[in-house]
Amino acid sequence: MSKIFTIALACILASLPMNLAWAASSGEDLYNEYQCHVCHGPKGATSAQKGYPLIAGQETSYLYRQLLDIRDGVRENGRSSVMRPQMHSLSDQDLQTIADYLSALPWSGNQGR
Ligand code: HEC
Repeated sequence: MSKIFTIALACILASLPMNLAWAASSGEDLYNEYQCHVCHGPKGATSAQKGYPLIAGQETSYLYRQLLDIRDGVRENGRSSVMRPQMHSLSDQDLQTIADYLSALPWSGNQGR
């Protein structure tokens, strides 16, 4: 009996850090914490200014690639450098998490431009 209890406890403990990590840094949390919404709208679906792209609902792999390239200075077109200061401390994993979050949101077409 106590063995089963120990195993159950171990399972619960093993799952805790993952749950906590997820709760601490969901894509939505990161998106808001790093001020992405200021330019791209609360859910990536509106632009604060002309030239700020709508980013909700795009392909995950596309978003992830753009985020990596903008953070690392590989993508230097248009005004992408305006968002680089926001991105210094975001890890590859953080960017993947944000890309997953944005990709799952509904595409807003041309609304908000
Ligand atoms: C100061 C305004 C600003 C902030 C803050 C900002 N962005 Fe951007 N973002 C831009 C602009 C402007 C572009 C378009 C750059 C260009 O002209 O190529 C862009 C481009 C992008 C793209 C590429 C879109 C595409 O279709 O290729 C993604 C994805 C993106 N931003 C996500 C983010 C995320 C995530 C954050 C927060 C970490 C963020 N942005 C913060 C202004 C901003």
